[in-house]
Amino acid sequence: MKVILVTGGAGFIGANFVHHQFKNTDHKIVNLDKLTYAGNPENLAALNGETRHVFVKGDIGDRALVDTLLAEHQPDMIVNFAAESHVDRSIHGPEDFIQTNVVGTFHLLEATRAFWNGLTEDRKTAFRFLHISTDEVYGSLTADAPAFSETNPYAPNSPYSASKASSDHLVRAYHHTYGLPTLTTNCSNNYGPFQFPEKLIPLLIMNALQGKALPIYGDGQNIRDWLFVQDHCSAIAAVLEKGKVGEVYNVGGNYEKTNLEIVHTVCAILDELVPDSPYRPHNELITYVKDRPGHDRRYAIDPSKIASEIGWQPAETFESGIRKTVTWYLENRAWVDNIANGSYQNWISKNYEAR
Ligand code: NAD
Ligand code: DAU
Repeated sequence: MKVILVTGGAGFIGANFVHHQFKNTDHKIVNLDKLTYAGNPENLAALNGETRHVFVKGDIGDRALVDTLLAEHQPDMIVNFAAESHVDRSIHGPEDFIQTNVVGTFHLLEATRAFWNGLTEDRKTAFRFLHISTDEVYGSLTADAPAFSETNPYAPNSPYSASKASSDHLVRAYHHTYGLPTLTTNCSNNYGPFQFPEKLIPLLIMNALQGKALPIYGDGQNIRDWLFVQDHCSAIAAVLEKGKVGEVYNVGGNYEKTNLEIVHTVCAILDELVPDSPYRPHNELITYVKDRPGHDRRYAIDPSKIASEIGWQPAETFESGIRKTVTWYLENRAWVDNIANGSYQNWISKNYEAR
């Protein structure tokens, strides 16, 4: 049985990945998560009582804790999802982003390097450290520019993307300097089950169900390249298995959409799936609000490297993935209601009242 250490596995993508690994492998999964506002034990409730999943509440920046975990569980691979992930929060308060995404990743790399140095040659060679990153490190594209490839220069524009770029550089350096067998994936916008409703798609679904305004920043023409989260998980698994150490793989689904297209799609699905909603047609709730400072205009991923070298392709189209997502939020109202607590409301007031 192999052992995989997943960091940030109580968050949106991390939890989906933990479920993916539980279902598709026989690995023991050690899940280290600080349980910030974004970490939600309910995302892992289906694994309660499963001895193959070991949850540890803690910080990737806690060197003593990570040293102990590595010594105790002897992982064969580490997948680092742990991060502060929301651009708007990084604008209101960048410090946590530097602390976790930069300093935390540094401590995790240092602990990993010390552990890896002590392994036998065979285990050293087979070991993998996979760092989960974002397309936002490449900056913003003009309307007709080619999609981001792995050789695009870094040009991060928000405190969030700058902190992720820093961590990517550290990971790269640990491979080049120390030989640590690292891999990095830079993925486009994810959507799907368990996404915290500060991000566009779950925020729209949640607000629409309550007849609240659907806030669209600026002119709504910003473009993102959307990938269903379970396709991101299959890409990560494929890179772990077949990726070449030291390499970077861009992950995306080739589904570029403007934010206005997203909101109209979500509203149309809700009109259909909730025919007795008092808020139909939901698109009448669309409200243009003050733009995000430094708002990147367009992201797009060129996934040809992961397709040709690893053979990965997404299983969902945007149409099938968004329908599954809306359906999941409709069928998991208890999860949604439990999230809509005081700290979430404080965030909504802070981010939207002055817009
Ligand atoms: P998320 O905010 O939903 O989850 C982050 C998780 O990390 C939470 O469970 C949180 O408790 C945990 N965490 C935060 N600080 C920690 C620390 N110091 N130590 C241990 N755990 C900590 O984020 P997400 O959307 O699931 O993103 C996961 C990763 O994927 C991030 O690294 C993010 O940059 C990257 N990514 C996200 C997207 C996206 O569209 N959401 C796209 C590409 C890449
Ligand atoms: O591209 C990958 C990135 O995607 C990840 O690295 C980040 O962790 C993830 O949060 C996401 O970043 P974005 O800033 O693109 O996602 P967000 O959901 O915040 O916004 C998507 C688009 O929708 C963006 O153009 C801003 C806009 N938006 C967002 C919110 C929350 C609105 O118009 N209104 C809103 O209320």
